[in-house]
Amino acid sequence: MGSAINTLIQNAQIITMDEKNPILKGDIGIKGNVIEFVGKSNSFTPDRVKNVNGNIVMPGLINAHTHSPMTLLRCYADDLSLRDWLFDKIFPAEETLTEQDVYWGSMLGCWEMIASGTTAFADMYFSNSGTARAVMESGQRANICRALQCFDDCADFEKDSRMRQALDLYSEFNNAAQGKIIIDMSAHAVYTNTKKYLKFIAQTVEKLNCGVHLHISETRGENVDCVKKYKMTPTELFESCGFFNTRTIAAHSVYLTDDDISIYKNKKIHIASNPTSNLKLASGIAPIGKYLNEGINVALGTDGAASNNNLNMFEEIHLAALLQKGVNENPTEVSAFEALKMGTVNGANALGIKNCGILRRGWCADLIIIDTDKPHLTPYYNAMSAIVYSAQAADVDSVMVAGEFLMENRELKTIDTERVKFETKKIADRFASFI
Ligand code: NI
Repeated sequence: MGSAINTLIQNAQIITMDEKNPILKGDIGIKGNVIEFVGKSNSFTPDRVKNVNGNIVMPGLINAHTHSPMTLLRCYADDLSLRDWLFDKIFPAEETLTEQDVYWGSMLGCWEMIASGTTAFADMYFSNSGTARAVMESGQRANICRALQCFDDCADFEKDSRMRQALDLYSEFNNAAQGKIIIDMSAHAVYTNTKKYLKFIAQTVEKLNCGVHLHISETRGENVDCVKKYKMTPTELFESCGFFNTRTIAAHSVYLTDDDISIYKNKKIHIASNPTSNLKLASGIAPIGKYLNEGINVALGTDGAASNNNLNMFEEIHLAALLQKGVNENPTEVSAFEALKMGTVNGANALGIKNCGILRRGWCADLIIIDTDKPHLTPYYNAMSAIVYSAQAADVDSVMVAGEFLMENRELKTIDTERVKFETKKIADRFASFI
């Protein structure tokens, strides 16, 4: 499976993310889609050699929460509260999107993510076969889920079209692209679903034994309303409906109570924190330093490009470290290593990608090469600090997923970027006409 080519990456400053040996100088051998060695080897016979001349090589970044087709709504509605932004602006615009629009929006998202070093992402949206097609062509890894919503408790759930789409997506694309695509189930949030419907989703998850992707406690108002309506926090409501028995990505998790934190720990729930989106929508700052200290796996996401307004994981890693230091008035809170873990191996764990996020023998050959021949990276003494505190997304020179270069020397290998610009501009013209 994958390419059968042996690739040797030479003369690298390697950030392995391996706790025992996080930074080393040397080479990386890649056999097919997995890493054969990290460091030095005399027995490796390469088909191709790439000398990176001392540039940094590190695991690919993992965006644990996004809505890739929302690139189409970038800078469409800004400076609004989550509720006004979502219900008055975003939902009505999304009503008009076709599956083909979603394909082009995701393709634009894949391009932006590859160009900024993201090798895998967790995507929640609708008309997701468009996203799955884009991901298959782009060559990235993705967990894709249909955001399920239901405002009508009397609906016949067995005939529910959204659930049918979610199930069709699962049967058609789960484990597609040599296992690079995983289909999860999703309930959009507690405030966009009835309790009865949430129970129905949880039963379906139980049957499929699949992963789940949710928005939980994004705003203070979400918690207040939920407690008023159900006498439970969003976390408690989801649990009471039967969630959390399979791998769960809980996006945001800004306002967790101590009881919620206990549920997260017991159920091994993965948090996908979205610092930029939470700041922009004034949702607040998630206490991720506290969550990490509690032993919860915290990953990072950009959220959609309509609330960020880009898909740049370097910004999320940077902000994740800085915000915790500033808020807690403690410069030792969230070290560069912890911030980078959130953007790499913690993300792989959240998405359930096996042996991924650390450069180590036998693990996925998902890596990125950073061009350090830049003024803002001159000089640097610690590669990890350079990435977290100084690097920019545009420093990503090459991106490899499963042993294949998706971008090399900044040239996209799998995406026709001119076509993507042309097609997405046509869709954007349509939106612009009814703003
Ligand atoms: Ni979101």
